[in-house]
Amino acid sequence: MEITKIIRKVCEDFKPYVAGKSINTIKRELGLESVIKLASNENPLGASKKVLEAIKSNLENIFFYPDSNSYYLKKALSEAYNLPIKNIFTSAGGDEIIELIAKLFFNHEDEIIISKHSFIRYAMAVKLMDSRIIVVPMKKGLTYDLMALLKVCTQKTKVIFVTNPNNPTGTYNTKSELLEFLGQLPLNNKFKIKPLVVLDEAYFEYALLEKDYPNGLDFLKENPNLIVFRTFSKIYGLAGLRVGYGFASEEIVDYIERIRPPFNVNSLAQVAAATAIHDKEQVEKSQKLIKEEKKYLYKEFEKLKVEYINSAANFILFSSLPFKGKELFRRLLEEGVIVRSMDEYELPYYVRVTIGTHKENELFIEKLRKIHKI
Ligand SMILES: Cc1ncc(COP(=O)(O)O)c(C=O)c1O
Repeated sequence: MEITKIIRKVCEDFKPYVAGKSINTIKRELGLESVIKLASNENPLGASKKVLEAIKSNLENIFFYPDSNSYYLKKALSEAYNLPIKNIFTSAGGDEIIELIAKLFFNHEDEIIISKHSFIRYAMAVKLMDSRIIVVPMKKGLTYDLMALLKVCTQKTKVIFVTNPNNPTGTYNTKSELLEFLGQLPLNNKFKIKPLVVLDEAYFEYALLEKDYPNGLDFLKENPNLIVFRTFSKIYGLAGLRVGYGFASEEIVDYIERIRPPFNVNSLAQVAAATAIHDKEQVEKSQKLIKEEKKYLYKEFEKLKVEYINSAANFILFSSLPFKGKELFRRLLEEGVIVRSMDEYELPYYVRVTIGTHKENELFIEKLRKIHKI
């Protein structure tokens, strides 16, 4: 059967998302005994004990379908952020939020604005819906150029994605920059509304340590066109459970609720996330680790004369020169260190490393030094 003939045209040349390789895959493929993964921006401390206990004590209930409304998780989020439940939605990771937004809003004729070198899942969602993608270059230093995003807005602009801080560059926009951007969005003459801004704050808790880093939730009231979303995959150490959450106007949340799969957040994920969101200790411990280790890695990069970009998140983008990013990735892999090369982000001479424990970071630097023969 020639299945290609009946596949939607836009899906024909789709390529699967390239995920960070797993430790077991690399051990098996390269016959290595010891491998560390610094590739997917996970929390090296793992999930907290409190969260693991909550999961364990709910294991016997997994034969039930999950609560379709994630009530207790939404309640916990509502308490943590002091916002009404009617403004909150939950999902199977931030990834699902991007797709839900695409399914809800993107028509074929719509223009969706993204920044170059921003999270690749936005472009994939636009492609899936067969809408028009407008890609805007970054500023020097690989930061989002918010004013340039405004300049390409037209009457067809439906959604603008802003990642703060951005993956993979780690750069961020300040409160005043974001406010200016939101304030200057043009009105659509026909619908009398501004383009939707989807503010992806996957690394929010790490970026809180930066000067003038804005909390997107502060702008929701004034900006009904704003959707803010975050994840439990990063600082909360729950990437394997797949939980994300977002905040928007009651109207937008109502529509998201109508189109999402009924059981999109599984029962263990709901319990784990509801516990995690109140776990201040986990957040503080992780922030402290990343702050200290970032300093260590910056210093070591400087000693090695390797250029890097200052990061507000738990990863660092650094120059792979004199190698191509792919080559440095391959060499590090042979040494048992999994990082990410950046070809798909159009950064062929960069590699992104997730900040690990001190021991992991030392090992990474030792291997990098060996490769650079210093
Ligand atoms: C900027 C950004 N947004 C969203 C996500 C999606 O995360 P998840 O689906 O694990 O919640 C990621 C994951 O790497 C990310 O880096």
